[in-house]
Amino acid sequence: MKTQTKSMQHMLTLEELTPESLSELIHLAKDMKKNPEKYMKQLDGKKVALLFEKASTRTRMSFEVGVIELGGYPLHLDGSTTQIGRGETLEDTIRVMSRYVDALMIRTFEHAKVETLAAAGSIPIINGLTDAHHPCQVLADLLTIDEHFGTRTGKTLCYIGDGNNMAHSLLIGGALSGMNVRIASPKGYEPDASIVERATEIAKVTGGTVSVMKKPFDAAAGADVLYTDVFTSMGQEVEEAERKQAFEGYQVDAIVMGSAVPDAIFLHCLPAHRGEEVTAEVIDGPQSLVFDQAENRLHAQKALLAMLLS
Ligand code: CP
Ligand code: NVA
Repeated sequence: MKTQTKSMQHMLTLEELTPESLSELIHLAKDMKKNPEKYMKQLDGKKVALLFEKASTRTRMSFEVGVIELGGYPLHLDGSTTQIGRGETLEDTIRVMSRYVDALMIRTFEHAKVETLAAAGSIPIINGLTDAHHPCQVLADLLTIDEHFGTRTGKTLCYIGDGNNMAHSLLIGGALSGMNVRIASPKGYEPDASIVERATEIAKVTGGTVSVMKKPFDAAAGADVLYTDVFTSMGQEVEEAERKQAFEGYQVDAIVMGSAVPDAIFLHCLPAHRGEEVTAEVIDGPQSLVFDQAENRLHAQKALLAMLLS
């Protein structure tokens, strides 16, 4: 089944998508979720390498299961036990991989690494999280929002916390969706100004808006979606104590939740730290959709794989 109507070659950031191809991907993900049997031969034996230089539960499992469900073969690789871990260049590695497999999903540190791989190889590269972006997570988030409200356009998403990879991908994905994206971060932890600028440009075209604020309550007021992420991301462990202090007052609790609209939903990419960025009452409460969101990684990524490889 042909699913590709545009020339998306990689998924390094959500800027690989247009508003139209994003809608196409969400539509396909919904159909794959409803009718998985229709797509059992979609990848037709294609092989997808999954390379991890950071820990993962959801990304690893949802990609492995997703590739299998589409009739392909996943190959899990741990960065520390490949020759990359001993200094083989990324360019040589991807040239070799391009001879064995049909696509590479990689979770790594510097975002420039996925760009290098995309430039040097001849297979699609999928960003399974870098320090700067987490596009696959946001595809699942947008699917979850769309399923829940019946639309994404015009909805207000408020992200409270670190201006990190999640904030960046939510900015781009929300802007592509015509959403109103508000980010509330403490001083010194704001999202990257160039990504805010790109999201603002995209939002001008789609009818969305982008705002970066300081106060969580200002950002949460009347929001449809409240979103947060850990204070300390993978690779930042030495900053943990300092970050805990800086993020005081940036917890999503029942009071912050209460300032959103009454039918607002709570999302978190997981893993979560109850009592830090979110209270147990909120994440385990009736407005939380975090496990639907985690499930949707599978469906959204299956749609992505089909669009890249069919
Ligand atoms: N949300 C997410 O990417 O989870 P993992 O780190 O478990 O893959
Ligand atoms: N910002 C977090 C997301 C984990 C899925 C990290 O990079 O560790």
